[in-house]
Amino acid sequence: MICLGEVNLFKKKGAKVAFFIITAVVVFVVLVVGTSIYNENNVKETIAAESSTQAMTQPLTNVKQPEANAQPEFNIEKITHEVNKEDNFAVKNIKGDNYIVFYPEILIDAVDKRIKTDIDYFKSRCEESNSKYLSVDYSVYKSEKNLLSLVYTITSYNDTGKEIEKDIFTRVFNAATGKELSQNDIFDVDFFDYASQIVRENLIASIDKSIYNISLDSFISKTNNDALNYDRFAFDKARLIIYFDSYSLFDKGAEVFEVDFLNEEINDYFLIDDNGKRKPTEGNIPLYVNDDSRIDPNKPMVAITFDDGPSSKNTREILNTLNQNNSRATFFVCGYTAVDNTDVLQEINSAGNQIGNHTMNHADLTQQSADDMKNAVESVNDIVEGATGKRPRIVRPPYGAVNHDVKAILSDYAFILWDIDTQDWLIKDSQKIYRHIIDNVADGSIVLLHDIHEETVQAVEMFVPKLVEMGYQLVTVDELFYYKDAQMMPGESYLNIV
Ligand code: NI
Repeated sequence: MICLGEVNLFKKKGAKVAFFIITAVVVFVVLVVGTSIYNENNVKETIAAESSTQAMTQPLTNVKQPEANAQPEFNIEKITHEVNKEDNFAVKNIKGDNYIVFYPEILIDAVDKRIKTDIDYFKSRCEESNSKYLSVDYSVYKSEKNLLSLVYTITSYNDTGKEIEKDIFTRVFNAATGKELSQNDIFDVDFFDYASQIVRENLIASIDKSIYNISLDSFISKTNNDALNYDRFAFDKARLIIYFDSYSLFDKGAEVFEVDFLNEEINDYFLIDDNGKRKPTEGNIPLYVNDDSRIDPNKPMVAITFDDGPSSKNTREILNTLNQNNSRATFFVCGYTAVDNTDVLQEINSAGNQIGNHTMNHADLTQQSADDMKNAVESVNDIVEGATGKRPRIVRPPYGAVNHDVKAILSDYAFILWDIDTQDWLIKDSQKIYRHIIDNVADGSIVLLHDIHEETVQAVEMFVPKLVEMGYQLVTVDELFYYKDAQMMPGESYLNIV
C-alpha cells in the first residue's frame, strides 16, 4: 500500500470495491449482531431455567473457565499514544469498532482545519478497510526553519496485535502563519537527483538484506529521482526526514525507514528561507510580511490602500480604526506631505502597515523625462527610508497613469493599481463609499481610497469592522501577494490578486 495523498487513495478504491465492502460490512454486521443477540437470549434463558431448578441443590459448576495459555484477543483499547515530553499539544482521539485515530490540537486555525479533514479521511479509510485492527498515530515536529511538521502513521494489525503493515502520511506548515507548504514550495527541482543518491546509499547500508531484496524493481523505481517518491517528509529541529514504508519499497513488512538530511547540507536546494518563507525568486521584489501575523491563507483577504497622504489628523484616525479591528492597510504617500509628517510615517509602519510611493508632487509619470521620473520616486523613498528604515518597492502611479516607458525606466518597482475605485475624493459621502466597497469587494481585491478626506475617515470606521465581520482579513499589499503565493515582479503592474 502506497500512500500518495488523499486523491490517489480515493482513486485507488473504485466505486464497485467500496460498494462491495459496504455490502460485506452490512451483511457481516447483520449476521454477527443478529447471532449474538440470539445466543445471548438463549444463554439467559438457560441460566434462568437452570438456576430456578438447581439453585437450591448445588452451585453452578459448568461455567466455562478461560484456558490459561490462550492467546488473549487483541483489543483496540491497548493502543495508546506515546506522549513526547516536548509535545505540549492536546492529544485527542476518535474510535471505531476496529480502529483508533489519535490527533493533536495545534491551536493554529489553518492547521487544525487541515487536521480535521485528515481525520475525516483516516476515519473513512479505517471504516472501509478490511484489516482486523487499525491505528492512526501522529508526531509533531518544530523546525529551526519555522516549520511545523505532522507525521501520521497508519498501522494495521492482525487479531493477535501483530503489526502487518505501516503507511506514512505527512504535512508541513509555516509555523507562524499555518500556511501549508508543498514539495514545490520547499525544494528546488535539482534536490530530487541528490535525494535519490543519498536515499539509496542510506537504505542499502541500513536495511536487513536477509529480509529485503534491494534488487527488486519496486525498490529501484521508488528511490529514483521522481519527486513523488519523496513526498512524505518532515522537518525536526535541524533535519529533513524523508519516510519510506517497507511495503511500498519491498511489497512486505511493517517497517518505516527514515533517511535524514541536515538542513545545512541541503541549504542550496531550499526555496524557503530560515523563517519558512519563500526566498524571492531571483529578480523578484522581496515582500515585507509581519511576523506576528495570524493570517489564514485559505480565508478571503483584501488590501485597503490610501493615496495622497499622510495627513496628521485623518491618517491617525484611520490608523486607530485599523488597530481597533486588528487590521492593516497600505499608504501610498506623496513626498510633499510626507516630509512634514515623518512621525505619522513611523506610526503607520510600527503598526504593521505598509508604505508605498505616490511620487514627490503627484506628477503624471507618463509626462516626465526619465530623470524626473526617477527623482519623483526616489526622493519619496529617501523620506520613507529615513523615517522607517524601509525603502518602498511599490509605486502607485498618480492618476493610475503607467505605460511601457514608465515601467522600463522605473524597472525596480511594481506598480500597484486597484480593482475597486471608491471615488471617495469625488463623492465625499461616507455612506456611499461604504456601500461601494461592501457591494464590490472580493477575495484578493485592492481598494483605492484617499486618507486626506474627512468622509473617507468616517467610511473607514464603517467598512473596516463590516469587512472583518464578513470574514475578510485586511492585509497589506505585500501580504496579499505573499499569502496568495503571487510573485511581485519588478516593472509589472497589478490590479488585484485573484
Ligand atoms: Ni493620488
